Amino acid sequence: MPARLAGAASAGGILPGPRAHLARPNVTPNQNATPAAGSRGAIDAAIKEAYEGFRYESRPCPTSTPVRLATMARLMGLEAPDPSTARVLEVACGDGGNLVPMAAASPSARFVGIDIATGAVAEARAMAADLALGNIAFHAADLRDLPGDIGRFDYVVAHGFYSWVPAEVREAMFATLRSRLEPDGIAFVSHNVMPGCALRGVAWSLLRPHVAGIDDPARRIAEARSMARLMADAMAQLPGAARALAEEFREIAARADFALLHDDLAVVNHPVHLREIVAEAGSHGLAWLADADLYRHPAPAYGGAMNAWLAGVDRLTREHVVDHLRLRRYRESLFVHRERGTPTPPAPERLAPMHVAASNDSAERHASLPRAPAASDRTPAAAQRMLIDRLVDLHPATVPVSEAVSWIIARSDPGSLLAAPASALLMLLNACHAGAIVPFARPVRILRTAGAKPRAFAPARWQASRHAFVVNLRHEGVDFSDPVQRRLLPLVDGTRTRAELASELAAWVPDSPNPPRLLDDYVAHFAKIGLIEE
Ligand SMILES: C[S@@+](CC[C@H](N)C(=O)[O-])C[C@H]1O[C@@H](n2cnc3c(N)ncnc32)[C@H](O)[C@@H]1O
Repeated sequence: MPARLAGAASAGGILPGPRAHLARPNVTPNQNATPAAGSRGAIDAAIKEAYEGFRYESRPCPTSTPVRLATMARLMGLEAPDPSTARVLEVACGDGGNLVPMAAASPSARFVGIDIATGAVAEARAMAADLALGNIAFHAADLRDLPGDIGRFDYVVAHGFYSWVPAEVREAMFATLRSRLEPDGIAFVSHNVMPGCALRGVAWSLLRPHVAGIDDPARRIAEARSMARLMADAMAQLPGAARALAEEFREIAARADFALLHDDLAVVNHPVHLREIVAEAGSHGLAWLADADLYRHPAPAYGGAMNAWLAGVDRLTREHVVDHLRLRRYRESLFVHRERGTPTPPAPERLAPMHVAASNDSAERHASLPRAPAASDRTPAAAQRMLIDRLVDLHPATVPVSEAVSWIIARSDPGSLLAAPASALLMLLNACHAGAIVPFARPVRILRTAGAKPRAFAPARWQASRHAFVVNLRHEGVDFSDPVQRRLLPLVDGTRTRAELASELAAWVPDSPNPPRLLDDYVAHFAKIGLIEE
């Protein structure tokens, strides 16, 4: 996962989605077998059994939200359905960790999730029921049995699905996208990619046979983890490529149980080159729109000669070569109906009606950077730096692009490069490409100062006592392992005054000299990590 998603501005780190760590090829011959077309064979049964037997903890995937999908489509010159009233389908919704918070954040939109694992769907239903959501429904079923009368959707999300199912289910996924996506809809498909997966595949080709005879999930996990550690330690002592590969084993050894079991030891793992999945989608009448994250679009970052070469080739060739330059192993690809025509590159003027926020990486790095330039420094570099500082101060909330542009112009001398709105917009777009800021088609309402009766985002309150992560109002996973925070957050529901919350806190932290102040600190922290809406 890119470093920019790896941490928040405060004690809680913004979690990478587990899928982002997990790309790997089918490397064990007997696990590559797929059942004959049309049948539902042993591999289907093994996949279902694996997910029924050991829960996969689904995290929020920020780039899969309707707002982020609409953002990318509009930046590339396509209309996109209004996210606030959209119909959204999630294929392989698992325990609802991605879909339920989306439904809670957009009460006028409607959501449907389908997953073959009945236990996971029961968990998703329980979360939705506890949150009293009336805009979400689930089907505990194989994707191939999606009800025929379910209608069409403005957005379809298939996260952590394509690379983990057999060929005929991948086919069914694309057929579903084609038949269920509205003509102006956007589909999000995450998948493992080559050539990065070839590296991780070295570890998989050792670990999967190593645990092949073990049925008990806990033992499979323990054995694989132990072998991964052994390999990492031994390979770190060796020269050349072995030392580099030690890191692959080290990463696997450090993974959460559910991710190690379902990703690194999976029954099916099918990484592809981008060109291959684009061709596959094309055979179903779908066209690749773009990567879901502007930050991951190719940028001229590879030295003069390579940058010039990349500038002269077509889009897919450029992506293919950059995947090799970066040894990329995971992608989030957006697809649209082929009839929509060829998308155009993101254009600065399309950013004008949008909103921007500091990225988590900017917020994290900001803490260790020297102070911003003096206000008297009116060079373009200083204006850019001051803008990022300002967004970091507001992080994770968004500001209108129009406001950011006015702000840049006000800090630039007349006649200087950034004094023109078009140049200021270009600077903002470049900052999005660089991962310093994130564009949003709609504002994200996050309070930086909580009210007298503070209220935290309901899905986060629900998760706090059950998981070591919670979802914030930007739909990001935030580390949440502190026991006092986990106990306090469910009470921050808008019904209690700060004094009432402080007296609860005093009972759990009896040695605190000043519970009201401690409470204020906790609530301020919740606001800083994007959990407070009142
Ligand atoms: C790796 S998990 C991903 C879950 C979630 N989307 C995420 O990324 O956190 C794969 C999911 O696909 C589901 N699945 C596998 N085969 C399926 C099928 N044929 N139809 C529907 N769901 C399926 C599994 O039950 C599991 O929940």
